[in-house]
Amino acid sequence: MQKKSLSDISTQGKRVLMRVDFNVPLDENKRITDDKRIVESLPSIKKILENGGRLILMSHLGRPKGKVNSEYSLAPVASRLSELIDCPVTMAKDCVGTEVMQQVLAMQDGEVLLLENLRFHAEEEANDPDFSRELASLGEVYVNDAFGTAHRAHASTEGITHYVQSAVAGFLIERELLYLGKALQEPERPFVAILGGSKISGKIDVLENLFKKVDTVLIGGAMVFTFFKAQGYAIGKSLVEESKIELALAILEQAKNKGIKLLLPTDVILAPAISGDVDFYADQISNIPDEMIGVDIGPKTAEMFRNEILSARTVLWNGPMGVFEIDNFASGTMAVAQALADATAKGATTIVGGGDSAAAIAKAGLAKEMTHISTGGGASLEFLEGKELPGISALND
Ligand code: 3PG
Repeated sequence: MQKKSLSDISTQGKRVLMRVDFNVPLDENKRITDDKRIVESLPSIKKILENGGRLILMSHLGRPKGKVNSEYSLAPVASRLSELIDCPVTMAKDCVGTEVMQQVLAMQDGEVLLLENLRFHAEEEANDPDFSRELASLGEVYVNDAFGTAHRAHASTEGITHYVQSAVAGFLIERELLYLGKALQEPERPFVAILGGSKISGKIDVLENLFKKVDTVLIGGAMVFTFFKAQGYAIGKSLVEESKIELALAILEQAKNKGIKLLLPTDVILAPAISGDVDFYADQISNIPDEMIGVDIGPKTAEMFRNEILSARTVLWNGPMGVFEIDNFASGTMAVAQALADATAKGATTIVGGGDSAAAIAKAGLAKEMTHISTGGGASLEFLEGKELPGISALND
């Protein structure tokens, strides 16, 4: 990596201000339902504490739109983090201001303070220079380990780097760049990408960037119906992006011209409604009745995708194959998750772009069977699109 990292600096006795992405899902009782992002930040946190740093953590949670709202307090995260590191984590009432500064100045080596949600201040998302400067004044060293927020040029990710002496990447960012970067730059071949999700428009930039690198692309999710419509099939009431039909044809043509094997489903699961209470069945894509909706890839496709995945040396997966949140429509997504797990066991590198695919892997209980699961949703997508991530570009070279 071309960026300075936490291993390049000394943190002993210093106030280390670290941006993390603790934007974790909470249930109605404010219990964390998935602590992956906290767990993945632990290597950096432990390293700083073991080296006698005074750790000031800052993050956003949700989208409180620049207003204080206790619904979005980071307090549940402070408790969980404290359990994970087996040491007290003090929760600050705010992320800036006199009281916070006093709290920070009173810290001892090895102590941890978690600042309250950065997005309680509109200045955070506005990347306001004064707010950036105020945040910067809390630390002597700045570390960014918030991969999930690296695609946002906010005060705590980009703006702040202009007001600190050193701005370095944490270990989570390093790891994400290592795996996602290696897949894009020097993948072991065959390199198979699996793309899913509902819309071509959300994945077109990823597809175009991956077309420069992959050998095979497997496409699932509702976006396949736009391809099918473009090819002249009846798609019933399945989701379609009418405005992307031409684009779908262009993608198929592009794959052919580049010699990329692009596989679409040959069968799908059909249901009269997107609900867990309706009957459903598998059929070929040429047999979709007018009143039916395609909700998942079919078993023949799952088998075909599995064979491709098992023959790969590098596998990258982004986006579910169907409406996996409903158990009846989750088989295709689960089959892909299992195929990735089996490919890992055979020695392939398997990488899962975050967001829905990461949630599907967690649902399948296969998280430990993957080489790498990104903590970034939007960030990993933008990285795979080949875009620059402002939170990373801003760090010291
Ligand atoms: C995410 O969950 O993708 C990141 O935490 C960024 O959150 P945002 O989309 O609200 O900026």
